[in-house]
Amino acid sequence: MPRILVFAGSARRESLNKRLARAAAAFVREAGGEATFVDLDDYPIALYHGDLEAASGMPEHATRLRRLFLEHDALLIAAPENNSSITALLKNTIDWLSRDLADGRGENSGLAPWRGKVAGLMAASPGAFGGVRALPHLRQVLSALGVTVLGTQVPVPRADHALPAEGGITDERAARAVRELARALVEAAGRLAPRG
Ligand SMILES: Cc1cc2nc3c(=O)[nH]c(=O)nc-3n(C[C@H](O)[C@H](O)[C@H](O)COP(=O)(O)O)c2cc1C
Repeated sequence: MPRILVFAGSARRESLNKRLARAAAAFVREAGGEATFVDLDDYPIALYHGDLEAASGMPEHATRLRRLFLEHDALLIAAPENNSSITALLKNTIDWLSRDLADGRGENSGLAPWRGKVAGLMAASPGAFGGVRALPHLRQVLSALGVTVLGTQVPVPRADHALPAEGGITDERAARAVRELARALVEAAGRLAPRG
């Protein structure tokens, strides 16, 4: 059963992208995958700084998150859009998790959490474009790290209406698109990243 790590690029308690990620995790399970939802607010990590890394290595929360990445075959990410790009939180998380540990070999390589993985991208915004402008940026960053990013991506516009606090996706078109993305990701993860 492919293991999918599902998270949002927002730490906000009422984050629309966390709602989207949770709804997508349910679709992963429906499609026969194993979904782990992770809240980045539970992994507060200092802004990347080379001197901090040189003095004390990778922060503990980044190390824990890194381990989670290693244990999963695929990523399903709900990325908020800030000024037409991804959030600083999401980029900072990716930057820390792309750093080598110790000798940088094998599982210690900065590429280890990424290489061979497949990813599905989504975005939620109260705006009319649904955060779609952030997704090519995320696609570029992940591709450079060796992640195979599915061609189909799902922006959810008017997400303050489409994603109610009690869960689920009330916009039928968006729900269908997220369900299909989750299904495609489970299928691709089973094919591209089989685990022993
Ligand atoms: C600094 C900043 C810049 C933003 N820029 C955009 C933007 O370019 N496009 C957009 O659709 N929404 C933009 N927004 C609105 C966010 O998409 C919206 O607040 C969204 O709900 C944040 O995601 P979250 O609910 O998961 O925390 C911006 C918000 C902030 C704080």
